Amino acid sequence: MQTIEQLKNYPQLAPGEAEGLLNRTAGMVLENLGTFTDVFPHAHSEGGFYKAIDNVEWTTGFWTGEIWLAYEKTGDPRLLAAGEKHVQSFLHRIENRIAVDHHDMGFLYSLSCVAAYKLTGSEDAKRAALSAAKNLIDRFHEKGEFIQAWGEMGAPDNYRLIIDCLLNIPLLYWASEVTGDPVYGDIGRRHVKTAMQYIIREDHSTYHTFFFDPETGAPLKGVTHQGYRDGSAWARGQAWGIYGAALSYGALKDPAYLEIFENLTDFFLRHLPQNLVPYWDFDFDDGSSEPRDSSSAAITACGMLEMARHLPQEKADYYTAMASRLVKALAEHCLVPSGEVSNGILLHGTYCKSSPYNSCPDWGVDECVTWGDYYFMEALTRLKGDWNSYWL
Ligand code: GLY
Repeated sequence: MQTIEQLKNYPQLAPGEAEGLLNRTAGMVLENLGTFTDVFPHAHSEGGFYKAIDNVEWTTGFWTGEIWLAYEKTGDPRLLAAGEKHVQSFLHRIENRIAVDHHDMGFLYSLSCVAAYKLTGSEDAKRAALSAAKNLIDRFHEKGEFIQAWGEMGAPDNYRLIIDCLLNIPLLYWASEVTGDPVYGDIGRRHVKTAMQYIIREDHSTYHTFFFDPETGAPLKGVTHQGYRDGSAWARGQAWGIYGAALSYGALKDPAYLEIFENLTDFFLRHLPQNLVPYWDFDFDDGSSEPRDSSSAAITACGMLEMARHLPQEKADYYTAMASRLVKALAEHCLVPSGEVSNGILLHGTYCKSSPYNSCPDWGVDECVTWGDYYFMEALTRLKGDWNSYWL
């Protein structure tokens, strides 16, 4: 636990440091491009090293997003060629419905195909991202007014939303913008309203998932999947809430989402341990032997930097400085020192860890996770200067 005043004593990145770190991480992406162009890194490393998988996981867009960020930084044609190859892979995936019966269309398609469309004007990328947006709105339930995350549509044991979905919604805002058809954004807006109403507790911590009654749509209960227990604050879930609130505020300018952002962020910051690298669940604090989840700090930094774009100077400066402190801590404690240690970028992430109270296995515990690598690079890109975001 920390007070905000204590946090202000932590060092920020020095001038030019974000640029230097971005150069370094772009170099790491280039080093791994040979291994991961026709195949993708698995969601998490094992013993520090990602194995290769086909384009079948909810996480493969993060690697393509890293390629686009590295391309923006360096202009290297090898990165452009790999990014364009990935667009074809993502187009093939959605057109052939390969592992797309879930809600993670934004994680997959904002960072691969919306990014490509913005950077290269690729019509294939636009078509793929719009198909993914259509796939996402097909998961919307009128009863309860939410997008179902996983599983067979309407099945009672999956009739729930999850906080992570807030990052899939910007794909819908983008789809409405490029097509002029309001249906995508309307569904996104309705999902976010429902999520914000039920997933946040009175103390501004968050549930991971929230169930509804399939018959009536009535709210039922908050339950964890990847957090330690139903009533705890899973660090990455809180981070998805922070960044999700910032993105929906950016798109909709609803003042309620600014207030939610401020409260969720305040909870996150005050629950940070001494080295600013969060434990995987905020039930744990300094002195615990539980692992960290560095990715949650990288996501939160991006959320604060996104929100800073929409705020008056004083508040923008506050959140930018906090983001800089988190990124500095990540660089100090988590950055992979050499390719001999890992083929990732950010150490000390945790995908999911089993507990007596949750329903998940031990996957990627104290490892690199692809989204940790991606969000660390995105935060550096944002800190370095103006960036035309892939999300909105
Ligand atoms: N969206 C799944 C996770 O954060 O692990």
